[in-house]
Amino acid sequence: MKSHSKPLLRALSGQTCVPPPIWLMRQAGRYLPEYRETRARGRNFLDVCLTPELAVEITLQPIRRYALDGAIMFSDILIVPHALGQKVWFEDGVGPKLEPLRRAEDLEKLAPAAMAEALAPVYETLRCLRRDLPPEVTLIGFAGAPWTVASYMIEGGTSKDFARAKTWAYREPEVFARLIDLLSEVTADYLCAQVEAGAEALQIFDSWAGIWPEAALRRWCLEPVKAIVARVKSQHPEVPIIVFPRGVGVLYEAFAREVGADALSLDTTVPLDWARAHLQDKVAVQGNLDPLLLVAGGEAQRDAVKAILEALGAGPFVFNLGHGITPQASTDHVADLVAQVRAWRPET
Ligand code: CP3
Repeated sequence: MKSHSKPLLRALSGQTCVPPPIWLMRQAGRYLPEYRETRARGRNFLDVCLTPELAVEITLQPIRRYALDGAIMFSDILIVPHALGQKVWFEDGVGPKLEPLRRAEDLEKLAPAAMAEALAPVYETLRCLRRDLPPEVTLIGFAGAPWTVASYMIEGGTSKDFARAKTWAYREPEVFARLIDLLSEVTADYLCAQVEAGAEALQIFDSWAGIWPEAALRRWCLEPVKAIVARVKSQHPEVPIIVFPRGVGVLYEAFAREVGADALSLDTTVPLDWARAHLQDKVAVQGNLDPLLLVAGGEAQRDAVKAILEALGAGPFVFNLGHGITPQASTDHVADLVAQVRAWRPET
């Protein structure tokens, strides 16, 4: 199949597809019994991400079950700090942990030169997936945006208020900028290498963009993401890039105008009519079902899916969630969702 006849690539190029293509953020994960089974075969989560045989199998699981339009390679945004030499581990039931960066000297320990070798298994995973995926399915690569990754590197894990990272940025913006610039460069290279290994579309996750006031948001999120998009596009102009600046509210419009992305992934709070009026005339949009509706199911889920399809289905659109699927999601509710999207036609 020619790449432009894949539904997801068509939608990302600005075409309206009826019905729209669908994939789900974090579609491979603990809500799937087969994931839990494969995951138990690795020593730990990072080991699973860096073992191509396991990462390929896990990537394919949601495709086999639901015939989704996009397969997102199985990995994590914290692979990048790991590849830079920072200590990263995942504690069951707690989440990611990192040996935190606390002062300017800690930045000197990061080793970009070691990255290519550390990330080699990711590229092998992508090469295998391009061979094994059904021809109509688009292979999606991804990375975290510099700010979201930096927040974990500084806080040492998930944080409620990002107090250390934000205070550091406000007190020593030049030092903080060195970290953001370093991450921008290595992330652009990483995304280019993913394309060279077979990724056909890319998503940049700025999951914690929404915690900044406007000026800082522009400096630490919008500008670095824009620089990454420009750098990747200069090497691979044909590969569509989706940006997910979660929680940025009306500044979604600045992202649509300024970053040069092909599509924006909308978080759950973005009003549908506003997105149609202010975003969909500039970029393709993706989103934004509340992931908790896949826990609740039933009429609440059905009505919300219909509202999204009716508001955004008449333009360039990719059905997705407003954030990652939760481990409590029901596999039956995901099946209902996919069936409803596949059956949808605009009312005439
Ligand atoms: O979509 C996919 O199937 C691809 C895989 C994927 C994972 N993480 C696997 C994962 C992707 C795209 C990510 C991105 C990611 N990782 C983000 C950005 C998107 C978002 O959700 O905001 C962030 C912030 C992370 C960091 C991270 N990784 C956290 C906070 C956690 C713990 C929370 C949790 O769900 O446990 C992880 C672990 C993680 N990443 C798991 C999976 C499947 C669970 C690990 C396990 O199996 O024990």
